[in-house]
Amino acid sequence: MILRRMSTILVTGAAGFIGSHTCDFLLAQGHRVVGVDNFRTGRRENLADARQHAAFQLLERDVAEPGVLADLAAETKPAAIIHLAALVSVPQSIEDPALNFRLNVAATQYVGEAARVLKGTRAVEEGQRGKVRVVFASSAAVYGDNPELPLTERSETRPISPYGGAKLASEALLLSNGAAYGFTVRCMRYFNVYGPRQDPRSPYSGVISIFADKLRAGSAPIIFGDGEQTRDFISVHDVARANVIAATAPDVRSGIANICTGKPTSLNRLAEILRQSVPGTPAPTHGEERAGDIRHSVGSPERARLELAFEATVPLESGLTELMARR
Ligand code: UD1
Repeated sequence: MILRRMSTILVTGAAGFIGSHTCDFLLAQGHRVVGVDNFRTGRRENLADARQHAAFQLLERDVAEPGVLADLAAETKPAAIIHLAALVSVPQSIEDPALNFRLNVAATQYVGEAARVLKGTRAVEEGQRGKVRVVFASSAAVYGDNPELPLTERSETRPISPYGGAKLASEALLLSNGAAYGFTVRCMRYFNVYGPRQDPRSPYSGVISIFADKLRAGSAPIIFGDGEQTRDFISVHDVARANVIAATAPDVRSGIANICTGKPTSLNRLAEILRQSVPGTPAPTHGEERAGDIRHSVGSPERARLELAFEATVPLESGLTELMARR
């Protein structure tokens, strides 16, 4: 696939887990990147590689404040905004729904406003005749506990947390603004993303980061329940590539896409692969099933393949081996 060359791309949440990998991939593809983060949960060390690049600019700003993003867009005139800044914790969204609204809904409105500003100015740089684009970090959380698998973009959405509700509301906000004001919006419904730089410190962190952290410390991971629950685990390298395709590939139209592998993996199998990658590590133990846990989740990757020509390529085994080899 031929990507547009040397675009300027604005990435919100640049210092986060997915944001920093997206910046790295954009830079590797020869794009200029304006990274924005307020460092509420983002970490400067995640951008150690990106900051070596002359084509990378890092700005400490809060995109949940009205007007901030529109001003930035007017200043930097990016061809696309990849909006990854968010409140990323489902439990925190339940504890503080007002904060969830501010960071995961109100901020999205400001992304729409920034895209509108770009549309109104000579937003698109010379040589790029495409429309202004917005790529939005949505989540499989919009499907809630829908048991009809695999989940497709036509599956019923019934989020069961303020987080999932906010992601769904933001999709609608952006898509409708894009239709009304003439910019392209791609909503990326990420499934269970794993990889280097994922923070393992909260009990609600992704299971792979928690297991990897435990194994590195020589202690046994705890599988909640019988371990036969399944998830669609996708490498952050694949997710970063999907974001870059959505932002820069020619002929991307507005819409939604699952970003997943289409392959279910049980927790038992996951623990087994991790143990194989670091011989001598302790066997997992089993604990109580986690309250509210979804039994099975797997997405259909068909639409992303058809509309973005994106397919996940990192096999879970090698993704986990890379993860365990780091740090
Ligand atoms: C994920 C998302 C969440 C989203 C949901 C629905 C993360 C961190 N969370 O939750 O935002 O709402 O998908 O799409 O990506 N587990 C253990 N031991 C542990 C930790 C977890 O066995 O120490 C188990 C859990 O019980 C669960 C599985 O691992 O069955 C995956 O858990 P987790 O990584 O938290 O992700 P989801 O529950 O899928």
